[in-house]
Amino acid sequence: MKKLLIVPVIIVSFASAKAYTQADRIQDMQKMAQAMQDIQTGFFYNNLDIVKDGVKTLEDTIIKVRPIKSEIENTDIYEKWLNNSLKMTNKIKKKITQKAKDIKEHFEAGDPKQALQAYSKITQQCLKCHVNIRKW
Ligand code: HEC
Repeated sequence: MKKLLIVPVIIVSFASAKAYTQADRIQDMQKMAQAMQDIQTGFFYNNLDIVKDGVKTLEDTIIKVRPIKSEIENTDIYEKWLNNSLKMTNKIKKKITQKAKDIKEHFEAGDPKQALQAYSKITQQCLKCHVNIRKW
C-alpha cells in the first residue's frame, strides 16, 4: 500500500495586500487631525457645512483604525496587551463616533457650547489611546 504523504502547503497569503498597515494608520491619523481642525474652524466661522464635513471625515476614518498586522501577530503577552488592546480600542472608537454625532446635532440645533463639549470629549479619547496604548 502506498502511503500518501500530505504535504502541508503554506500558501503565501495575499492578505497582506489588504492588511491594515502602519502607513495606512498614520494616514488615517492625519486625516482625523485635519478633521478635528476643520471642525474647530467651523465653530469659529459658525459654519455648519464645515463642521459637518469634518464630522463626516472623522466618522469615516475612525472606523478604520485598528491594530496593524505586526501588532496582532505579536505573541508577547505584555506587548500584545499594550499594542493590541482591541477591547479598549473599540470602546474608544465607539465613543468618538458617538461624540462626533453629538457635535453635529448640537451645532445644528444652535448649541455650540454643547458641540464644543463633545469636541473636547473626542480630544480626550484621542489622547486616551495615545497615552494608554501608545504610551505617548
Ligand atoms: C485606537 C487608538 C487611537 C485612537 C483612538 C487615536 N489614535 Fe492617533 N495614533 C494612534 C497610533 C497607534 C498612532 C501611531 C501611528 C503609527 O506610527 O503607527 C497615532 C498617531 C497619531 C498622529 C501622528 C501621525 C503621524 O503623522 O505620525 C496623529 C496626528 C494622531 N494620531 C491624531 C489622532 C486624532 C486627532 C485622534 C482622535 C480623533 C486619534 N489620533 C485617535 C492611535 C490612536
